[in-house]
Amino acid sequence: MGFLNRLFQRKPQLPPVDWSVLQVDVHSHFIPGIDDGAATIDDSLALIERFVGMGYKKVITTPHVMSDYYKNTPEIILGGLEKVRAGVKEKGWDIAVDAAAEYYLDPEFEESIPEKKLLTFGNNYVLFELPFISEPPMLNDVIFKLQTNGYKPILAHPERYGYWYKNYAKYQEMLDRGVLLQLNINSLTGHYSPETKKIAEQLIKDGLIRFLGSDCHHIGHTELMQVAATQGALHELIASGRLLNTQLLD
Ligand SMILES: [Fe+2]
Repeated sequence: MGFLNRLFQRKPQLPPVDWSVLQVDVHSHFIPGIDDGAATIDDSLALIERFVGMGYKKVITTPHVMSDYYKNTPEIILGGLEKVRAGVKEKGWDIAVDAAAEYYLDPEFEESIPEKKLLTFGNNYVLFELPFISEPPMLNDVIFKLQTNGYKPILAHPERYGYWYKNYAKYQEMLDRGVLLQLNINSLTGHYSPETKKIAEQLIKDGLIRFLGSDCHHIGHTELMQVAATQGALHELIASGRLLNTQLLD
């Protein structure tokens, strides 16, 4: 009987978190037609409308910059940002839109750092991502180069790099090197993989996460966020006081 009870007993569902507490989203793909996110300005506005509805006050959108696939320059990104801002203004929505980038760590990125033309947000933060196959050999050099050029690196979705799952000390090492970690909200739903969810929960438990981002590419991601909103780990992270999202409002 105990077994059956356990089998059918559902965990009490938590109420959804109040997204407006975060105020600012730091990772998304809302500039139309320049990466694998919003394809048109209508797509961009439909996505931003969801963020307005969730109570966000600002989105810092971060198109991919990747030398093989998305050759996005600051001019391309900021030109697209103007279109998005004009659309938001026309709708009369109470949300600020800024743009930076999600830089893929490749040789071109490394070479571009000393030019000091990277798109940043907040406290000279640069959002960068790693390959999913293996840790790039120049990772530590790139971190050092970013820092000696005045940038503060933020690593996008560290919970998604499978090659670190058996090398968990890497996460603390990143923090020790001065890299801040940005978790994807939807990692907590199991959307990427069950292992990603597990590591995401562990990183929260160990107090290693400083930024939360939607990494929103399409409407499906905003719908998944409603699932993430009821996860205990997300409640725990928001209540921890460790997140820096709100510092980016001005
Ligand atoms: Fe992304």
